[in-house]
Amino acid sequence: MESPLMGLLGVAVAALLYHACVTAQAGAHEQCYAEVPEPYDHLATKTPYYVVQNNNDSEEVFPGCRPAQFWLTARHGTRYPGDDDIIHMDRRLPLLQQHILRNYAAGRSKLCALDLDNIREWHQAFDRSMENQLTESGEHELFHMAKRFQKRFPTLLGAPYDPDKHKFLTTTKQRAMQSGRWFARGLFGDQPVIFPKPKTNDPLLQFYKTCDKWRELIDDSEDSRRERYAFQNSSHMLSTISGVSDRLGFVGNMSYADVRLMYDICRYDKSAFPDRVSPWCAVFTELDMKVFEFDNDLEYYWVDSYGNRLNYEQACPKVKDFIDKFSAVGSSPERQPLAHLYFSHLGGVLKFITRLGIFNESRPLRSGDFGTARAFSSSYLSAFASNVALVLFECGDGYHVSAYVQEHPTRLPGCPGQLCPLERLVSQYRDVVDGCDLTTMCASGGWLATMWKTLVWGLPALSVLV
Ligand SMILES: *[C@@H]1O[C@H](CO)[C@@H](O)[C@H](O)[C@H]1NC(C)=O
Ligand SMILES: *[C@@H]1O[C@H](CO)[C@@H](O)[C@H](O)[C@H]1NC(C)=O
Ligand SMILES: *[C@@H]1O[C@H](CO)[C@@H](O)[C@H](O)[C@H]1NC(C)=O
Ligand SMILES: *[C@@H]1O[C@H](CO)[C@@H](O)[C@H](O)[C@H]1NC(C)=O
Repeated sequence: MESPLMGLLGVAVAALLYHACVTAQAGAHEQCYAEVPEPYDHLATKTPYYVVQNNNDSEEVFPGCRPAQFWLTARHGTRYPGDDDIIHMDRRLPLLQQHILRNYAAGRSKLCALDLDNIREWHQAFDRSMENQLTESGEHELFHMAKRFQKRFPTLLGAPYDPDKHKFLTTTKQRAMQSGRWFARGLFGDQPVIFPKPKTNDPLLQFYKTCDKWRELIDDSEDSRRERYAFQNSSHMLSTISGVSDRLGFVGNMSYADVRLMYDICRYDKSAFPDRVSPWCAVFTELDMKVFEFDNDLEYYWVDSYGNRLNYEQACPKVKDFIDKFSAVGSSPERQPLAHLYFSHLGGVLKFITRLGIFNESRPLRSGDFGTARAFSSSYLSAFASNVALVLFECGDGYHVSAYVQEHPTRLPGCPGQLCPLERLVSQYRDVVDGCDLTTMCASGGWLATMWKTLVWGLPALSVLV
């Protein structure tokens, strides 16, 4: 440990040496991060929505068909970091910042002067009172998404607002409620829109909250993170850590936790302030960013997606919901809403995308797969505001469904083309809907499991005693 006085001295020396070093080091680095025109912006689950959204907002027309109903499930837009993250950032980042400045002053850093200046001037923009709330950039994400969807489907999403025709649903969280509000504002401006009172652990939007078996065996389990931990120990991660440490002038290697913290502040800054340079992103090369992105891919693949069956099996209520809603249109078209609009969280949206079977891998994602071509990408599938829209069309030959992921037309598995006969989806997902019993699916082992373990481990022990 060093004394505060040493720290102060260090800063003073750093300030003195700084000007001397600028000229010496400016040419050492190829390009300053701050001058890269389009820095790498695939930031796993903290990817800003503009990175993945579809900007083509032409009206969607299928000859001989008429849009009949719009169904959307969206993650909230960009949010501020959570409480724990903000506390950790407040505690640790200023120390790292000082260290980095001292290393630079001592001539050990490979950062360019501009990037170093940005780190020097960085101060924590996230206050604990904002924790987990929707950012202003997040408001824009939902507002403009709504406007684009409205242009594509003017007959379903156009004004005027009608509470019987446009059905909104959100979770109890501020970021989800505000996402719904900003989407509504994008569609209907200042017209007041009715939101039903959100339910705690809404069974449609947050089914996983009450799925004990998933929480115990997957979400809280070290075992589902085997691949991720193996990757954290791989040559890719180790060389990222040593590369970052070396670039910042540390004599030894920094810890994974410190490098990860800089990655986190980099991507929170980037998504909250998309138009500014994020100082901490400068400590990473593009390859380093991809290494951390893959570290996240392994987490979400195994804990929320294809890696474990229960991850997506529990998303069946949403499959049942869209099939029920679309089927009702066929039986009583005039009485049905034009749009069902759901605003929730990554957990509910990614599990549903997986349940649909889109972006499936032919084989499980492993720690050794870094750098290989793959369908599963947390940056694409779980960006802020990521969403799936399913749109029902009435055509000459019956009802069809067109799917959109991040607003991009996306063909559903098992379907002949962009338009998929509703009947085909109904039969394709029949088992999913009929077997949708979360009580059974999510029953944790509880005392039974405890007894089983006692038997398995306890009996041999007893027999030894006897
Ligand atoms: C834009 O979107 C419309 C509707 O999906 C599509 O028909 C058209 O081909 C798209 N245009 C481009 C340039 O991709
Ligand atoms: C990481 O690798 C080292 C050396 O190969 C090994 O001793 C350690 O157990 C590994 N840690 C994990 C979490 O796999
Ligand atoms: C830092 O990590 C790299 C990569 O694992 C390793 O080769 C190097 O020896 C480590 N440096 C120190 C000082 O431990
Ligand atoms: C993903 O693909 C594998 C291999 O083709 C298949 O066995 C599995 O059922 C698919 N998963 C889902 C949820 O569709």
